Amino acid sequence: MSRPAFRSVAQTEHTLISSQPRDINRKWLLRACASACRHPLLRMLLVAAVLSVMLLNSAQTASAVVGGTVATLSAHNWVVGVARADVADGYYAQFCGGALLAPNLVITAAHCTFDEANQPYEASDLHVLVNRLRLSSQEGQRIQVTRIVRHAGFDIDGLNDDIALLELAYDANAPMINWGDLNDIAAERATVFGWGVTEDGSAVDWLHQAELPIVSQRACNIIYKSYGLAITDNMLCAGNILGGVDACTGDSGGPLVVYDSERAEWVLVGIVSWGAGCGASGAYGVYTNVSAYAGWVVEQRGSLNLE
Ligand code: ARG
Repeated sequence: MSRPAFRSVAQTEHTLISSQPRDINRKWLLRACASACRHPLLRMLLVAAVLSVMLLNSAQTASAVVGGTVATLSAHNWVVGVARADVADGYYAQFCGGALLAPNLVITAAHCTFDEANQPYEASDLHVLVNRLRLSSQEGQRIQVTRIVRHAGFDIDGLNDDIALLELAYDANAPMINWGDLNDIAAERATVFGWGVTEDGSAVDWLHQAELPIVSQRACNIIYKSYGLAITDNMLCAGNILGGVDACTGDSGGPLVVYDSERAEWVLVGIVSWGAGCGASGAYGVYTNVSAYAGWVVEQRGSLNLE
C-alpha cells in the first residue's frame, strides 16, 4: 500500500530537478525515502517529526550522516557500501552501508535488501564497495554478493529484526569488525558512518562520520511512545535531544561503533535502521542492537559454512 505513494513522490521530485545536469541530489531524489516513505508508520513518523521540530522551535539544523565530517577510511575500513550491481558509477549505485564481519561476510540492515518497490533483491542485484572512501572513484574493490540472508522476523512494514548478512563472491581485502555489547563496554558516545543525506539534503560522495551520545532505552521509549512505537531490546538509540547529529537516508545498514578501550579496538554495536526524520529535535536515531543478534549471526554463519 505504500508503494504507489513512494513512487509518485520520487517521480515528482525527479521530474522537478531532472533538467539540472549532474545534480548531486539526483541519486537521492531517485531513492529519497527509499525505506522511510514506503512504511506507513514511518511516513507518519516523518510528519510527526516535522511537527515536533516546529513545536520545539529548535534553531538546530538537521545534518546524514547529519552533523558529521568526512571520514578517514584507513582507520575504519570495515565500513562498506551496498550498491546496485546494474549501476556503474558507485555514487549512483550505493544506497546503503554495511560492515565486514568476516572477509566474505557483510552485516547490514534487512530493509536494505529490498528495492524501492519493496521487492526483495536477489544476491546478483547487489555489489559491495570495499575500501572506497569516495563512491565515484574506482578505488578499492567492488565485489558481487552471492547470498542474502535476511532475518526471518523482518517484514518490510515492520521495524523489528532489521538485520541481514551478505555473502561475498570472494574475500574483501579489508579488516573485519567484531561486535560488542553496550552492557559490557563503558562507552557513552558512539560513531556512525555513511554516505547518506546530509543537512543540506544531498547525498555525499565521500564517506562521512558523526559522533553521537548513546541514549538509554528508557529515554528513547519515552520519545517513541508518543508515536505509538516501542523500542525493544533488539534496538538501541543514539542522538541528541536537540537534534543536529544523526544518520539519515542512505546511511541505513551502516555501522554504529564504539571504541572499546579494554579491547583497544572499535566494536560494532548498532546498524542504522530508522528514526523520526533526520537530526530532528525531540527524536533519536534507532539502530538494530547487534549484540541481541549475536546468536542469530553465529547460527547463520554456521549454516552458510562460513568460518
Ligand atoms: N531508513 C533510512 C535508510 O534507509 C535510515 C534512517 C535512519 N534515520 C535516522 N534518523 N537515524 O537509509
